[in-house]
Amino acid sequence: MDRPLVRGGEFSDVDAHDTNALIAYLDLATDLSSHDKRESYRAQGIGPNMHVLDVGCGTGDDVRAMAALVGPGGSVAGIDPSSAMIEEARRRGVPSNARFEQGAAASLAFEDGAFDACRAERVFQHLHDPAAAACELYRVSKAGGSVLLIDQDWETLTIAGGRPDITRRVVHAYAERLASGSAGSEHRRWLRRAGFTSISTHAIAAMPNLTTAFSQFLNAGIDYALEAAAIETNDAHEWLLSLLQAEAAGEFTCAVTAFFSLARR
Ligand SMILES: C[S@@+](CC[C@H](N)C(=O)[O-])C[C@H]1O[C@@H](n2cnc3c(N)ncnc32)[C@H](O)[C@@H]1O
Repeated sequence: MDRPLVRGGEFSDVDAHDTNALIAYLDLATDLSSHDKRESYRAQGIGPNMHVLDVGCGTGDDVRAMAALVGPGGSVAGIDPSSAMIEEARRRGVPSNARFEQGAAASLAFEDGAFDACRAERVFQHLHDPAAAACELYRVSKAGGSVLLIDQDWETLTIAGGRPDITRRVVHAYAERLASGSAGSEHRRWLRRAGFTSISTHAIAAMPNLTTAFSQFLNAGIDYALEAAAIETNDAHEWLLSLLQAEAAGEFTCAVTAFFSLARR
């Protein structure tokens, strides 16, 4: 297997890394989650004339999709701290009722109560101060407005096929190196303390095959575990070989839990 360059922790500071590789990573993730994305717009009730904010919009696919749903009487703003992501989002197309701006979740450049709906997908796991970001989402939401957070809890990653003790060390090293690697399990605490009510959370397990798991997080998990001296190089080789053998035998199993939390202001 080729070793892709992307490591999940790099999304906390996209512009300091290989931005083309991070954009390619996002495109694969978007392909894999297109059904869940459409469901999430429906669950949040995104519709005509709404004013919507997408925090950590990346390449802007959700902004463009939601711009079509809110129509000419609504608007969608996408913000992201990465100039490379904002440039790419603009290059892919800016609908007349949408805009892309550089900005960070913990200090949003919007008025109080500006939005009917706010969304942050796979963003809180990359934030160093997620509680402050939740407070900002509360501030910019209208009374009765909604917020949707989507994140994995990377400590929930299960992998069958390699030595279990190495698996747990790789999983823990990956979760530890993200700014907020257990974000999905912490949504409710951040949202409730920010003031949101009617918080409902549901969880879905994604089950990637070995190739996808390797390119999306296992390669990074191995690197992080090696860097943390949680495993040795020969452990990594032996573990990966076991996973390849398990995949070839049809025994490889991998699942990670993603949490979808919808709340009201
Ligand atoms: C995994 S990507 C998800 C992108 C998009 N939401 C999606 O679902 O495709 C995480 C995004 O969060 C952005 N991000 C990182 N730190 C941020 C911060 N402090 N505030 C807002 N966004 C941030 C990154 O630049 C990146 O575009």
